[in-house]
Amino acid sequence: MLSMKDSFIKIKEVPTKVGQEVKIRGWIYRERKTKNYAFIVVRDSSGIVQCVLDKSSFSQEKWEEIKKDADVEASVLVKGNVIKQEKAPTGFEIQVSEIKIVGKSPMFPITKDLSRDFIDDVRHLWIRSRKMTSVLKVRSTVFQAIREYFLSEGFYETQSPIIQATQCEGGSTLFEVKYFDKKMYLAQTWQLHAEAVIFALEKIFCIAPSFRAERSKTSRHLAEYWHAEMEAAWEDFEDLQNRAEALVKHVVKRVLEKNKEDLEVLGRDISKLKPVIEKPFVRMTYDDALKILKDKFNFEVPWGKDLRTIEEEKLVSLYDVPIIVTHYPKEIKAFYMKEDPKNPKVVLGFDLLAPEGNGELIGASERETDLEKLKQRLIEQGEDPDQYGFYLDTRKYGSVPHSGFGMGVERIVKWLCGLDHIKDAIAFPRTMVRYYP
Ligand code: 4AD
Ligand code: MG
Repeated sequence: MLSMKDSFIKIKEVPTKVGQEVKIRGWIYRERKTKNYAFIVVRDSSGIVQCVLDKSSFSQEKWEEIKKDADVEASVLVKGNVIKQEKAPTGFEIQVSEIKIVGKSPMFPITKDLSRDFIDDVRHLWIRSRKMTSVLKVRSTVFQAIREYFLSEGFYETQSPIIQATQCEGGSTLFEVKYFDKKMYLAQTWQLHAEAVIFALEKIFCIAPSFRAERSKTSRHLAEYWHAEMEAAWEDFEDLQNRAEALVKHVVKRVLEKNKEDLEVLGRDISKLKPVIEKPFVRMTYDDALKILKDKFNFEVPWGKDLRTIEEEKLVSLYDVPIIVTHYPKEIKAFYMKEDPKNPKVVLGFDLLAPEGNGELIGASERETDLEKLKQRLIEQGEDPDQYGFYLDTRKYGSVPHSGFGMGVERIVKWLCGLDHIKDAIAFPRTMVRYYP
C-alpha cells in the first residue's frame, strides 16, 4: 500500500529513471479516460508527467474508484515503471501499478477559456497553474538573488516600521491606518528610517512590502508591492548607479541560470535578457532623454515634466539593456534627493528603466544632507518640517554623504517573466479593484 511516508522522487527526475520503478506524488493536471485505460498527467512543484493506468492492472473496485475520483486537481500517490514515450507530453510515461487518491477534487472550477475576472476570483486555485507556478519560482530566485547580492557586498539586512507617521513619496498615495486614536500610514518606503540606521550599520538593505494607494489602473501598479531597498553611507551618486546596475545584472543572471525551464513554460524569449548581463547599461541625463525623444520620435516634452509611460516606452525601445536616466528636474522628484551642486535645478537622482516597455524598475538618489535645503523642500511640497524631527536629526549629528534606492520586486519579475500585467508577478495581488482572495 502506498503511504505518505514512502520515498518519492520529484517529477523532474522521472527522465533519469527509465526502466525503473518509481513513486511520485502530486495533483492531477489533466485526465482522459477510455474504456480500458486512464491517462492522467500528474504535476508536482517540479514538473508534469503522464501516467497510464491499464484497467487489467487493477481490481474491479479500484478501477471504479479511479474512474469516479481521478479528477483534475485530485491529489495522488502513484507507483509505476518509467518508460520512454514519444507521444507523452514530456517524452516519458509512468505505467502505473498502484495509485492512491489522497484528496478528491470533484468539479475543479478552473477549466479552459475562462474570463480573466473569474480566474482572478479563484486566484487561490489559479496559483496551481503552470504559468503561476513558474512565475512563483522565478520570484523565489529573485528574492534569493537580491539577498545574495547585498550580503556578498557587506550589507546588513535591516527592517523598518510598516506603520509610519509621515509620507515620503507624496501624500496622494498614502494609505491611512487607524492607530488607536491617531491617524498613521502604511509605509511607502523604508527610506526615512533607513537613513537613520546607516549611522549604525553603514550599508543596509531590506525586502519588505510597501503600500501605495495608486488610483491609476495600470499594468505596473500594485497597492501592495514588495520593495527591495538599500541605503549606504559614504556612497555617492556614481556608486549608486553602479550598484543598481550590478544588482539588476546579478538578478537576471541568477534567473537565467536557475529558471530556464520556467521561462520556457512562460514562453519568454531569453535572448532578450542576455544583453542585460553582457553589456553595460545605457546612462543618460533627463536632458539627453528629452533630446532623443525629440530627434527620434518628434516628441516634445516640456522641460520640467516627468516622462510619461509612452515616452519611457519609446526611449527604451532604442536599446536592449536598461537605461539609467539621471538629473531629473527638482520639482518632479522627492524632497530628499540631493540638489546637483553644478545645477540647482536638477537632482542627483535616477530612474532605471527596464527594456521592452517595462517601465521604472528602480528609483534612486544621493540624499540631500543640507538641513536648510531639506526643510525648504518639505515646505515647498506642502509638508510641515516639524513632523520630520527624527529624520532631520540625521543631518544634525554626524551627517555623511549617503545614497540609496528602491526596486519594485514585482516590476522585475514582470519583466523577466514577460508578463502582460504586474498582478501576475505576485500570488495574491492587491490593486484598487482586487483585494480578495
Ligand atoms: O520610485 P519610488 O517611489 O522610490 C522610493 O520609494 C524610494 N524611497 C526608494 C529609495 O530610494 N529607497 O519607488 C521605488 C520603486 C519604483 O522604481 C518601482 O519599481 C516600485 O518601487 N514601485 C512600485 N511597484 C509596484 N507598484 C507600485 N505602485 C509601485 N510604486 C513604486
Ligand atoms: Mg520613482
